[in-house]
Amino acid sequence: MAAKNPRDDVVMTLTSDETAARRPNDLESFWLPFTPNRAFKRAPRLIARAKDMHYFTTDGRVVLDGTAGLWCTNAGHNRDAIVAAIQQQAEELDYSPAFQFAHPKAFELASRVAALAPADLDRVFFCNSGSEAVDTALKIALAYHNVRGQGARTRLIGRERGYHGVGFGGISVGGIVTNRKFFGTLLAGVDHLPATYSRGHQAFTKGEPEWGAHLADELERIVALHDASTIAAVIVEPMAGSTGVLPAPKGYLAKLRAICDRHGILLIFDEVITAFGRLGHAFAAERYGVTPDMITFAKGITSGAVPMGGVIVREGIYDAFMQGPEHVVELFHGYTYSAHPLACAAGLATLDLYRDEKLFERARKLEPAWADAAMTLKDLPGVLDIRTVGLTAGIDLASRPGAYGLRAYEAMERGFRDEGIMVRITGDTLALTPPLIVSEAQIGEIFDKVGRLIRAVI
Ligand SMILES: Cc1ncc(COP(=O)(O)O)c(C=O)c1O
Repeated sequence: MAAKNPRDDVVMTLTSDETAARRPNDLESFWLPFTPNRAFKRAPRLIARAKDMHYFTTDGRVVLDGTAGLWCTNAGHNRDAIVAAIQQQAEELDYSPAFQFAHPKAFELASRVAALAPADLDRVFFCNSGSEAVDTALKIALAYHNVRGQGARTRLIGRERGYHGVGFGGISVGGIVTNRKFFGTLLAGVDHLPATYSRGHQAFTKGEPEWGAHLADELERIVALHDASTIAAVIVEPMAGSTGVLPAPKGYLAKLRAICDRHGILLIFDEVITAFGRLGHAFAAERYGVTPDMITFAKGITSGAVPMGGVIVREGIYDAFMQGPEHVVELFHGYTYSAHPLACAAGLATLDLYRDEKLFERARKLEPAWADAAMTLKDLPGVLDIRTVGLTAGIDLASRPGAYGLRAYEAMERGFRDEGIMVRITGDTLALTPPLIVSEAQIGEIFDKVGRLIRAVI
């Protein structure tokens, strides 16, 4: 059935009553995040439903999900077991506070997450997003030093090109200029390590580059500048995803660990993207054999189905807080929706799927085929670099003169409309990060489609 709403100047061919019902009649009110709103509202990319590896648009087209949503639907979309768990939980317990009260699934999920995490990373604090997870970890770091009588340790060290969400803590330690420059003075006392990417030394590397471990030594320089007694924590992504898939150079994270140990500085891995199989393990910490003091997670914990994030901390950090009168709160921090019952139910069902379908191992096994397929695009005109790690690829395109980001934007737009694929863009980089259920045939399909996109926009 075809329909045209007079309030909507976008013509869509609707295929059923169902899609007609889903079609919005006013695009003005919703202010889309991280989106050019005017361009979007002139030609919206609207999604009606999803299943496994695919989205279905409101005008009835099928779109292959090359990005696991926003790096989050690791188990694929609308998996029956996760949907059923959410439905059942909604009937049973819609909400209970996590301040002073709790529900059993919160403990169950925390134990399951702790069991997956390396070493003594055994205590889990829940929140609702990656940004909240980052701000929580930074606050725990500051408070930890405080309760141990080292309250002068207030400096936080991030990294250029790092993305740690959009809270004030996250943008302060983050290293993306556009995410910082509009928002005032940010947190005081923050310093940054240099980014680990150098095209000259690393172009077209599969996995972790050989070059770059020495950049961790910059932490020694920062420590010498400020003195270790003023530094609380270092936060890095094991693989910087949002600035274009920048895997850690070989040996880099171990070096950071050693320097932090030398100076009593906490090391935080922001694993909001890398946790839950993206790099072939439950956590990237395992892939690199490096144990941080805290791990932030979100996204894949529920395969994107319900918002949830969290911080896993080493037992000793938690224990440092467990002092003083027992009726007094030990950490003055938390969210109304920490450990929300729907999120916990979705999280448990998701972890079951990861385990039962061996999805982390699957990602590990698919990694060589994924990397080979990505590199088939190496010689296309305008391709400056391709990087892969786990089930992730970043493809740098040459920018159009005077129009940074336009080429990748056109590729994303064309991908959705003409090729039936969702790709993620950052500047003129295309990022590909499919659900871990992707088949080898679909890997081929992804890179065939992306190859056509690149040719079309060059
Ligand atoms: C490493 C990292 N940290 C934090 C975040 C923020 O997560 P959220 O968007 O859930 O706040 C992201 C999001 O992509 C991320 O990649």
